[in-house]
Amino acid sequence: MSERWTPSSWRTKPIQQVPVYPDAAALAAVEEQLAGFPPLVFAGEARKLKRALAKVAAGEAFLIQGGDCAESFAEHSADNIRDFFRLFLQMAVVLTFAGSSPVVKVGRVAGQFAKPRSAPTETIDGVELPSYRGDIINGIDFTEASRTPDPIRQLDAYRQSAATLNLLRAFATGGYANLENAHRWMLGFVKDSPQSSRYEELAGRITETLDFMRAIGLDPEAHPELRATDFYTSHEALLLGYEQALTRVDSTTGDWYATSGHMIWIGDRTRQPDHAHVEYCRGIRNPVGLKCGPSTTPEGLIRLIDLLNPENEAGRLTLIARFGAEKAAEHLPALVRAVEREGRSVVWSCDPMHGNTVKAGSGYKTRPFDLILSEVRTFFDVHRAEGTHAGGLHLEMTGKNVTECTGGARAISDAQLSDRYHTHCDPRLNAEQALEAAFLVAELLKKEKLARDRSIPAAAE
Ligand code: TRP
Ligand code: MN
Repeated sequence: MSERWTPSSWRTKPIQQVPVYPDAAALAAVEEQLAGFPPLVFAGEARKLKRALAKVAAGEAFLIQGGDCAESFAEHSADNIRDFFRLFLQMAVVLTFAGSSPVVKVGRVAGQFAKPRSAPTETIDGVELPSYRGDIINGIDFTEASRTPDPIRQLDAYRQSAATLNLLRAFATGGYANLENAHRWMLGFVKDSPQSSRYEELAGRITETLDFMRAIGLDPEAHPELRATDFYTSHEALLLGYEQALTRVDSTTGDWYATSGHMIWIGDRTRQPDHAHVEYCRGIRNPVGLKCGPSTTPEGLIRLIDLLNPENEAGRLTLIARFGAEKAAEHLPALVRAVEREGRSVVWSCDPMHGNTVKAGSGYKTRPFDLILSEVRTFFDVHRAEGTHAGGLHLEMTGKNVTECTGGARAISDAQLSDRYHTHCDPRLNAEQALEAAFLVAELLKKEKLARDRSIPAAAE
């Protein structure tokens, strides 16, 4: 079944979601230029992430993957990156503590530019133009010039990714990620939240634990691992010409890696087993994600696992479930059972965003916070019933105080969506909503842990 793979073998397959560039020669010239640029990440880092994800697959760690739906050129700033990273770390503190296990931190960042669209064109007042496909491809303004795919944008996206990654690495290792900082920021959130009484108990226990650690000499000044963290990048591998140009052989192993980010994923619209996106992803050795929506069947899923992880390598494949609050209970159990029956090692992660998008009365695309939480709860319920590990959470979120998703402790209403609706694509949780989600997941993880602790002695008898 397995034909020879090369970084360009995807070009012989059918492909969905491909932009039409008017100037093929200009596109080829950009791809050639990119192919000569330095890689953004290094293969050893991708392998380290894979080992971390293998622990998630084994039930010994939890994955948080999150960031913008689509990064944009206009919002590229140090403040945005800092606020995002700060939010991420606060969520990580809460979840590391609640699960008493490591949190693998993977941003949808430093490369998350290309967007699949439901229609190739958009018509406004009788004018039809190509749909916006993300800043790496075209512009969001509704003019012919802006909407025409321009290959130069790929160079800008590469440079923005490099700059973003550079700052994230500096934050992750240069002292900013100090555990006591992250904890202090989190306490600030708890104090200001209308729901603070709900979060205080957990936050207080973390404070006590850190005080205790400090008392016995385990402080960040003396222990570098408390001052730094491993932070990884990921994006949807949609624009395959760009991905191909950044696909490199790792000189130490001779294997091919995508070097545009540590982890890449295949979207729900481009996961046809005989098409280009699956073909590209099967040949690179990075951790790979696969979005699973309501049209995923158990047989179809196993076929994709055969293609993407034929050696059943732990940490290689993360299945990202995105069914919608109503459909999750109906679809997820059969998929989990098929994976268990076939003995496949995967990470199960929950994307409660994409199946819960609705059009508000005001006309804005939004996501009700209650539906998001409801899908997360169902995800944990299903895994508990099946005896499998609810391994991760995949969120569209921003460190900024936007008003894009309704609900949450501050109860953003439909009418308030227009206040700060800034997203270039799908609505994101704002910083408070994302932290609230983390506190809820903390409760669920704690329950999962208690259930497991209880079942171990019973099983051993
Ligand atoms: N290095 C550990 C980790 O990444 C501990 C740690 C340091 C940490 N800074 C952190 C944990 C910030 C969460 C948030 O897990
Ligand atoms: Mn999205």
